Amino acid sequence: MESNKKIILTGDRPTGRLHLGHYVGSLKRRVELQNSGEYDDINILIADDQALTDNADNPGKIRDNIINVVLDYLSVGLDPDKVTICIQSALPALHSLTFYYMNLVTTARVSRNPTVKSEIQMRGFADEGLPVGFFCYPISQAADITAFDATVVPVGEDQLPMIEQTREIVEKFNKTYGDTLVLPRAVIPENETQRRLPGVDGKAKMSKSLGNCIYLSDTPGTVKKQVNGKMFTDPQHLRIEDPGHIEGNVVFTYLDALCTDDDFAQFLPDYSCLDEMKEHYMRGGLGDGTCKKFLISVLEKTLVPIRESRAKWEENIGDVYDILNDGIIRARKKTDAVLSRVRKSMRIDYFEDRNIIGEWENLLKDRKQ
Ligand code: TRP
Repeated sequence: MESNKKIILTGDRPTGRLHLGHYVGSLKRRVELQNSGEYDDINILIADDQALTDNADNPGKIRDNIINVVLDYLSVGLDPDKVTICIQSALPALHSLTFYYMNLVTTARVSRNPTVKSEIQMRGFADEGLPVGFFCYPISQAADITAFDATVVPVGEDQLPMIEQTREIVEKFNKTYGDTLVLPRAVIPENETQRRLPGVDGKAKMSKSLGNCIYLSDTPGTVKKQVNGKMFTDPQHLRIEDPGHIEGNVVFTYLDALCTDDDFAQFLPDYSCLDEMKEHYMRGGLGDGTCKKFLISVLEKTLVPIRESRAKWEENIGDVYDILNDGIIRARKKTDAVLSRVRKSMRIDYFEDRNIIGEWENLLKDRKQ
């Protein structure tokens, strides 16, 4: 269906606190989109049901992390007056839509989804057996997206196969039952550094199990420890006067993602911009200690307001609960409306339309003639 609105739907699995990788790759952008005033409707879904598809034995983990994720959202500046923050399990329309869409996708097609493929390997499902629920999560994600009539889905690169699969479901649905669903498109972060912020140890991704994250809720002491104690730089840069390498040097990757020329004026006036600092490092004569100290200042400039805001929300968890409750009520209206439209197109809206009584009567009459 053509849409003349600009509607955003995006979401996260509540499996842990959000970290700097989430901030650089998505949260910062969401706040910008929220404040751009360009969108008619912005929705953020805490995908707790999806999180259960590979945590069925530990629902307590999901329960605990819902509050962590909402606090992260609110503290980075997502504003519940401008965006609808809601929870997947509280929106029954999503479950119904998933069930209908399952009939429009083959198991072969889901098996080809590269993100699902690698997750099956990573989680050991290839050996242990693959839960049907997990296998179906891309279909439930299509339900999430279409239930809000989303036109734009801001996501990380790893989610592109999900949006591709959603688009196929939309096309198949519209072809089979008539023009009903809106075709969404993915938007991914603009540059490489935003897309993939490495862990402090230089590994490709921040991950809880590797202990290489900087969380938005970390204390200044922890941030300092992660940078000074664990951050990977250039192993060949032994003495300050040695030439250093920028490539793969996490300090510079983080600076690429976060620092501005203003930060130099404020914290490291020896240089006017990052390029100047990099040149000196490569030439030799700039020590890792100075670079790390500067990075900590830059990180704290981002993290201090987030931490302060978080502390305020943490004092008012009752308000956070009400925000979620309110978001759910709004989201239920939107998603129920789409489900009604879907059922109408499929002509399974039996109890919306009493005309079916006449239809059934005629059917029976025909049989008697
Ligand atoms: N699969 C996403 C992730 O792991 C989370 C998610 C669930 C999502 N539903 C969504 C993202 C809908 C975008 C749109 O990060």
